[in-house]
Amino acid sequence: MTGYWDIHNHILPGVDDGSGCMRETMEMLEEEYRQGVRHIVFTPHYRRDMFAIPREEIQTVYARVCEMAADRFPEMEFYLGCEYYIHSDASVERLRGNPKYYMAGSRTVLMEFAYEASYAWIMQTVSEVRQMGLQPVLAHAERYECLYKGRDRVAELKTQGAYIQINCESILGKCGRKAKHFCMKLLKEDQIDLMASDAHDTEYRIVNIREAAELISRKFGQEKVETIFIHIPKKIILT
Ligand SMILES: [Fe+2]
Repeated sequence: MTGYWDIHNHILPGVDDGSGCMRETMEMLEEEYRQGVRHIVFTPHYRRDMFAIPREEIQTVYARVCEMAADRFPEMEFYLGCEYYIHSDASVERLRGNPKYYMAGSRTVLMEFAYEASYAWIMQTVSEVRQMGLQPVLAHAERYECLYKGRDRVAELKTQGAYIQINCESILGKCGRKAKHFCMKLLKEDQIDLMASDAHDTEYRIVNIREAAELISRKFGQEKVETIFIHIPKKIILT
């Protein structure tokens, strides 16, 4: 199976804590290709106190990667996005009218929070971002402690208008049993909109789309795989 999307990863070289060099970037792209991915939205971190490389610089790196990848992977499509860290009212406000923090020219924002962020804060942010006319996606939802507490918190966030993304490594058990169990439960309840690699390198946090897609196909059927890895990503990025 090919045609998958990977909408959250750190494959661009030297712009955050992901790929360290162009060689590693090309190896990661090779792996994405081998696993059936044909659309990649690069999502370097934006976090003011930690990863705040000017977006113009990121654009330059992105253009260089696209140029180098065009010959080697002619069937792949590349897009530039952002994983946007939200920790304050100012960081929410900065999103207003600022498409450089959105996903590939769409109205979608991939948002991450601190692990210990409160449920009230995540909920309030989702609501504010919606009011700005943007489409929030909660990055790696399985990381937030607060979502394990109430029974229907993820469902409530979805009702509020958030899309829910989880990482492939979590359903593969690489982030512990608790996270895996949580993700499988959410998948079973149809609460997951998107899955992505969140790959950072070629050794530890690797591209693992195919293994995750195969597991979901076995447990929940191929239709679910296509919804999560193709149809919803395409919808939020291209429309
Ligand atoms: Fe990430």
